[in-house]
Amino acid sequence: MYDVLIIGSGASGLTLALSLPEHCKIVVLSKAGVSEGSTVYAQGGISAVLDPHDSFESHVEDTLNAGAGLCVEDVVRFTVENGTDSVNWLLEGGVPFTRENKDDVNSPLHLTREGGHSHRRVAHAADASGYAIETSLVSQAQARENITILENHIAIDLLTTRKLGMDSNRCVGAYILDCESNQVSTLQARFSVLATGGASKVYLYTSNPDGASGDGIAMAWRAGCRVTNMEFMQFHPTCLYHPHAKSSLITEAVRGEGGHLLLPDGQRFMHHFDPRAELAPRDIVARAIDHEIKRLGVDCLYLDISHKPREFILEHFPNVHATCQEFGYDMTKEPIPIVPAAHYTCGGVMTNLHGETDVDALYCIGEASYTGLHGANRMASNSLLECIVFGQSASDSISQRLAEPVKELQLPEWDESRVTDSDEHVVITHNWDEIRRFMWDYVGIVRTTKRLARAQHRVDLLLHEIDEYYAHFKVTSDLVELRNLALVAWMIIRSAQRRKESRGLHYTLDYPDADPALADKPTILDPIAAYHP
Ligand code: FAD
Ligand code: SIN
Repeated sequence: MYDVLIIGSGASGLTLALSLPEHCKIVVLSKAGVSEGSTVYAQGGISAVLDPHDSFESHVEDTLNAGAGLCVEDVVRFTVENGTDSVNWLLEGGVPFTRENKDDVNSPLHLTREGGHSHRRVAHAADASGYAIETSLVSQAQARENITILENHIAIDLLTTRKLGMDSNRCVGAYILDCESNQVSTLQARFSVLATGGASKVYLYTSNPDGASGDGIAMAWRAGCRVTNMEFMQFHPTCLYHPHAKSSLITEAVRGEGGHLLLPDGQRFMHHFDPRAELAPRDIVARAIDHEIKRLGVDCLYLDISHKPREFILEHFPNVHATCQEFGYDMTKEPIPIVPAAHYTCGGVMTNLHGETDVDALYCIGEASYTGLHGANRMASNSLLECIVFGQSASDSISQRLAEPVKELQLPEWDESRVTDSDEHVVITHNWDEIRRFMWDYVGIVRTTKRLARAQHRVDLLLHEIDEYYAHFKVTSDLVELRNLALVAWMIIRSAQRRKESRGLHYTLDYPDADPALADKPTILDPIAAYHP
């Protein structure tokens, strides 16, 4: 039996693993390689108050403004006030953040600016901040004897005492599928933590890696947790548009450092939508781009930073520049074509300030969680911050509970006696594609009541079909992800239908204004509200 099972090896999961005491026996799972997840792809950086002219108050205020009335202020304050220490903790672990003077490691950190921030407060490692953070955390975790890392192991479902027929609802571990041997094992742990990332793969076009299928959110809900604010899916305004580019992100820092958004005729347009122009919060910028694309009937708009010196662009954005070049664009000389794509899951598993969920001994941290920090729209670079702050606060809570008496249980083995190998894998690929397409068409940046009803009808049918398939065929990692993706799609649609107003990332033509009565009212899906009619 392990002391702590951490499902996910991104910034949140590894921060927790490294913050727990070294006598604690920990297992960290990744359903792919250890570094694979959204963290490693993060570009812009991590926000925190690091400049003497900046203040906690200002970071709090900007976060509340971006969150459009739905942030929980205490949570925002807690996160912001722990931000400086979080960045210092990363620096102590060896993360090579960019300095003001690139030849002097003791010079102050170079801070960039992104949408919604009224100060420069984003620490970054050029335009590959996530890579710098993830590789540092992975090498520290690999050096710890108390941490076992299991790659290519996917958690199928959580095991709780309620599922075992007891009155209490305590999480005691999970069923795990070894993706290489296809064997399922039962893993028992005193504390389990979901650090599984977001669910943007539910949309056809996304900046996220393939694994962002919302597994943790779906598993938690099935185990008895409330899931909150799933209608607030964030679309990043600028992903590279090219038939062969897999929605590559163009960091918001390009706009932070002076990049302009342009119509096909070369005109700037953002000032018609918001006085902050290119640096308005993401919901506003993505919606403005979507509006102009639809109004003009074009495939994409443009992002231009070619008025800045070539050396400046190459120093700040070497990776974005290289990606654009791969597809034939030189951002030092010309505007690059962009479109919005699904990027971040603001809702998730409801937790308190320590990452504790509704189920005893079950925690949730990082993008899979809903802490109350992001409200109706996450401000840029507040996500990595949340991963570090809540990884550490969950560690404080678990550390305190390690002294509790331990009771090992006899857990049931995974039962495969009534299933066979699938002879119709096409059902999985077809359903996967269908979900992602109707979510993009009907539950995207602009919604309507009618489109949501269409999406709901389809997802209900698919959920029944997938449940039936799951009951009859041997489990595979694709099937695990599809089952979760469908459930999360259902949650997004259901939450969007409940919110009869437009606020932050949720915009519907049928209720185009915010309803003041709904400020501070999150959309909470109760676990007992099963999706079966
Ligand atoms: P992830 O890093 O996504 O890791 C999830 C982990 O869970 C992986 O190890 C995965 O294998 C594992 N996993 C999932 N399901 C299972 C399962 N069923 N069984 C076993 N393992 C499982 N945020 C910022 O603050 N600043 C930025 O600059 C920034 N840039 C971004 C750029 C891109 C392209 C993207 C995609 C996101 C960006 N974000 C940024 C968002 C931020 O990177 C993520 O929100 C954050 O990294 C999520 O970290 P995490 O620990 O929650 O999960
Ligand atoms: C970016 O670099 O634009 C992404 C920042 C974020 O998602 O917070």
